[in-house]
Amino acid sequence: MSISFSGEPADEIITSSTILPEDSGEASLRPRTLDEYIGQEKAKDNLRIFIEAAKMRGESLDHVLLHGPPGLGKTTLAAVIANEMGVNMRITSGPSIEKAGDLAALLTNLQENDILFVDEIHRLDRAVEEILYPAMEDYAIDIIIGKGPSANSIRLDLPHFTLIGATTRSGQLTAPLRDRFGVTLRLELYTPEELGRIVTRSAGILGIAIEPDGAEEIASRSRGTPRIANRMLRRVRDYAQVRAGGVITRQVANEALLRLEVDRQGLDSVDRRMLKSIIEFYGGGPVGLETLAATINEEPVTLEDVYEPYLLQQGFLTRTPRGRCVTRKAYEHLGLEYSGQEQLEL
Ligand SMILES: Nc1ncnc2c1ncn2[C@@H]1O[C@H](COP(=O)(O)OP(=O)(O)O)[C@@H](O)[C@H]1O
Ligand SMILES: [Mg+2]
Repeated sequence: MSISFSGEPADEIITSSTILPEDSGEASLRPRTLDEYIGQEKAKDNLRIFIEAAKMRGESLDHVLLHGPPGLGKTTLAAVIANEMGVNMRITSGPSIEKAGDLAALLTNLQENDILFVDEIHRLDRAVEEILYPAMEDYAIDIIIGKGPSANSIRLDLPHFTLIGATTRSGQLTAPLRDRFGVTLRLELYTPEELGRIVTRSAGILGIAIEPDGAEEIASRSRGTPRIANRMLRRVRDYAQVRAGGVITRQVANEALLRLEVDRQGLDSVDRRMLKSIIEFYGGGPVGLETLAATINEEPVTLEDVYEPYLLQQGFLTRTPRGRCVTRKAYEHLGLEYSGQEQLEL
């Protein structure tokens, strides 16, 4: 099974949850079975039942939609599903399918029960997406042959396949597409305890010496995201090798991460800039996402997909109908005096 990526260009910040060049070794760290896949217990419990049932009936698995912020394990989970089902997986992504014919070619080349993984499925071209409707529902595609009045449509049967779609923005999926998925799983940010297990597992695979305290320190600063935890582990290892005799202790992890501008709460420079701007320019909020993005010179989608989930989860930020507001906790974390917006924290 081959795994290839087509991600957004990522910026060079350690806490970026999108894929950076240095993550090229990610494949070796990917769990291959549901038992190895740490956390996401709810999603795994559901999947175990669906997989078991499909296998008992000898049928393809229902179409699965995975959604959640980048780096939480959507691609990994798709590969785990393929492995558990014992089928092949073809990988593509929404923006890389340009023409309806490209998708038709992919679909007709699948074998019975195979999985087609479409990353960033919300970015599918509309004309391409329409091919998917009958493919998902009836395992067939309609192909137009010829042009003008003599054009003919023929229906081509497809093997029973499973579509696994991944998206960071399920809200951008069209209703007809969303409705055709039998299973929708939302991946959640990981707890520090789960991330600690992921870091320890990765350290074992990479042959890195790490103390439990060191793993805990990395875990609690990787904003709920396995991709970031693994990346931090590699960076901290470099520091440990050069400065600290090769073993990652809590102190070594702490020193290394501070050098990378990741603070004790796992916030990076963009997080802090975002919170500070809301305080300094908008009196703590509310401020609209677009305005805020322009103020700190970031893309609104980046703030929404990459930065906000963690800030919201950690209670530094709240979303109100009128915009984003910082909380008392954010003032305290930044060492700024709280100027009182209690009503916004309700
Ligand atoms: N549940 C998990 N257990 C262990 N490692 C994980 C888990 N989820 C993700 N990872 C690690 O995080 C990295 C990023 O996961 P990936 O599936 O590429 O995220 P996404 O597709 O959601 O952006 C993978 O290389 C994998 O090693
Ligand atoms: Mg992915």
